[in-house]
Amino acid sequence: MKKWARLLYQPGIPLYGDTRITGSKEHIGVSRKAASEGIVLLKNNGTLPLSMDKKVALIGKASVDYVKGGGGSGDVFCKYIHSLYDGLRAKDIAVYEPLVRFYKDEIQKQYKEGLAPGMTREVKIPDDLLEGAKSFTDTAIVVLNRFSGEGWDRSSIECNNEYNPWPSETSMPKISGQIFPDGDFYLTSEEKEMVETACAGFDKVIVVLNIGGIIDLRWAKENPKIDSVLFIGQGGMEGGDAAADVLFGIVNPSGRLSDTFAGTLEDYPSTEKFHESFDYVDYNEDIYVGYRYFETIPGADKKVVYPFGFGLSYTSFETKVVDAVSFDGEIVFTVKATNTGNVPGKEVVQLYYGAPQGLLGKPSKALGDFEKTRNLLPGESQLLTLKVSEYEMSSYDDLGKISDAAYVLEKGTYKFYVGSNVRDARKTEFEYENPADKVIVQLSHKAAPVSLKERMLSDGTYEKLPLGDDRDINECIFEKMEPGTEEALLPAQKSLPIRSLINPYKEGAKSFDEVAEGKATLDEFVGQLSDDELIDLVGGQPNVGVSNTFSFGNMPEYGVPSAGTADGPAGLRISPETGIVTTAFPCATTIACTWNKEIAEEIGFAGGEEVKENNLAVWLTPAINIHRNPMCGRNFEYYSEDPYLTGKMAASLVCGIQRNHIGASVKHFACNNKETNRKHADSRVSERALREIYLKAFEIIVKEAQPYTIMSSYNALNGYRASENTDLLTGILRDEWHFDGIVTSDWWTRAEHYKEVNAGNDLKMGNGFPDRLRKAMDAGALSRDVLETSAKRILSIILKFD
Ligand code: BGC
Repeated sequence: MKKWARLLYQPGIPLYGDTRITGSKEHIGVSRKAASEGIVLLKNNGTLPLSMDKKVALIGKASVDYVKGGGGSGDVFCKYIHSLYDGLRAKDIAVYEPLVRFYKDEIQKQYKEGLAPGMTREVKIPDDLLEGAKSFTDTAIVVLNRFSGEGWDRSSIECNNEYNPWPSETSMPKISGQIFPDGDFYLTSEEKEMVETACAGFDKVIVVLNIGGIIDLRWAKENPKIDSVLFIGQGGMEGGDAAADVLFGIVNPSGRLSDTFAGTLEDYPSTEKFHESFDYVDYNEDIYVGYRYFETIPGADKKVVYPFGFGLSYTSFETKVVDAVSFDGEIVFTVKATNTGNVPGKEVVQLYYGAPQGLLGKPSKALGDFEKTRNLLPGESQLLTLKVSEYEMSSYDDLGKISDAAYVLEKGTYKFYVGSNVRDARKTEFEYENPADKVIVQLSHKAAPVSLKERMLSDGTYEKLPLGDDRDINECIFEKMEPGTEEALLPAQKSLPIRSLINPYKEGAKSFDEVAEGKATLDEFVGQLSDDELIDLVGGQPNVGVSNTFSFGNMPEYGVPSAGTADGPAGLRISPETGIVTTAFPCATTIACTWNKEIAEEIGFAGGEEVKENNLAVWLTPAINIHRNPMCGRNFEYYSEDPYLTGKMAASLVCGIQRNHIGASVKHFACNNKETNRKHADSRVSERALREIYLKAFEIIVKEAQPYTIMSSYNALNGYRASENTDLLTGILRDEWHFDGIVTSDWWTRAEHYKEVNAGNDLKMGNGFPDRLRKAMDAGALSRDVLETSAKRILSIILKFD
């Protein structure tokens, strides 16, 4: 095939051989494997695994209505979705069927009433069915689910400000408020009653949580009548089968939590001001996010129900540090993990470091590295290597307490902890003495806050931060477009002059093929383009083939193909109208719970194959914002509260995707940690928290996986919209980290196109605003040089597609 044949001619041919791989059995197998490895066993008194001849009663509408992932652009259209009931039936497990029929009818009724999938009410079990179930079996499996999605948070608060181009769409915050009057973090009264009914009526009660984020689990942990609890996440199209595999011991659970589960929403320090304003969010808890808060701040440890990294197994493990050496700025641990139980299983070995408090203050523990074993047979051991560097352990000094605007390694003793979760990790004998404060990297202030008044310190008190002049995020040299007028627009179709088949390209032009073949340089190619052609190139282009999030490139008069984009992250999202169904993988949080980098890479590769087979070029995946607060509606699309776990897992995914010579788009850069009013809210964050928490995963991915594209976020960051933030997109991303791909905006931002290009946001999606760019050029606010730089980046990436 000719280079770019898939982009240029859109052939409907399979990637390999005669059969398409999109939505194939093989890919669904990858999805299921990931779903089962992402399942976390939270409690077990020996009831699990069940024996194959065990009869069960399924309690709860979620047993027949599986939530495979969240909603919005992260949703995926697949061939089928298997519920837990489907998973059990496929194994011939005897299930009390009358109750299943009852739930199926109820769900259909509620859907007819207009309730959305996954957002339905729990229903009371009729007495006769309950009696029937009790005489059928002594074992109840209680299933609960939750649903959330893009554009709204897990609360009943409506956004005040975001223009909704689809106004008739169901208001999810409103439905959420009706179904979950106390918020969906807590059980509803109907759910509580259901749990009580199960506990009163059955000897054995197993709770299964089909949930993409954190909820209150005190009731499950503390109730002695509940024997076992399984957090199955949102596991994609065969998530119900994966859960059945674990329940019946076909798969030994090896997932670990990627977040800290606390008892109440208020236990998370970010909750207090989460909804304080539509216009800004103050990140006052600073670096004390997730376990960094719960394990450090005095008294906060008592709020934890299940700690970060926690997960049980049907077997037991012993981990021993057999060696620890410090060499060239890196500390390397060799750890032996042994299966000391009776069945095969996988262990996740976690290494935490504890830096001295020093002048800056530190979390008492931070994840330094992790590795997962292979499936170890009883008695079998595996040696694992875990590493942590001085750079990782250093802190960003944004107030010049040691050395201004530098990563510093403070003097003192660095301690290390190895174990199976943040709580249980045991201190190793090895310590690292740093005799004097050391500057690891000297940088300069970038993206500093001007309106964040104070931030939390490691003893739970707050320190004042310097303030600056307020900034107007809407500042513009000409009048801004009215909110909404730039929303949901389609990129213009080009009208081209009649061209000849014999000489298809513009008269006298150097074609893009010549650049690909090394006969012309990119500089020569770009140099011949007019200002208007450059302006056109830095905006999104019409859809091609089955893409529905538009394309870029598209200069047929020069032979530049259109590179189509499509959403993720839980699978390739192609509109159902095309007749194509793809593989729905588990949501990102469930992938994170596998703690298995190889699985992330496998998913990336398989998803990337589907992207390529469907003649698309960029997959808008992975989404890696930090789980700052359980209420963020898109947390299911994101990995974890921890930047290292997020960065490592998503870097593996990106490597997998890009092995196909198609691009990943790492999103949303940065601090899109709340959905309410996401296009306008200003995230006000200290430089330290930015660098150590919110940018860290992006940094890891850029350095380890060189993603072709990064998507800037809608929100503002410290007074500048992220896509107009020069410090972020040029200062940090390119100058410090050496990112050499394209930065795209998120789709239809409220930012101004000329300011975006100037800041280093190369491509405005879904469409550009050529007239406004021209106007800015005429006014001297945009130069040809800047346009050429972005054009070259865009074209360089297209050259990588194959
Ligand atoms: C979302 C992105 C998504 C894009 C294209 C935006 O609303 O924030 O994550 O990739 O739409 O669908």
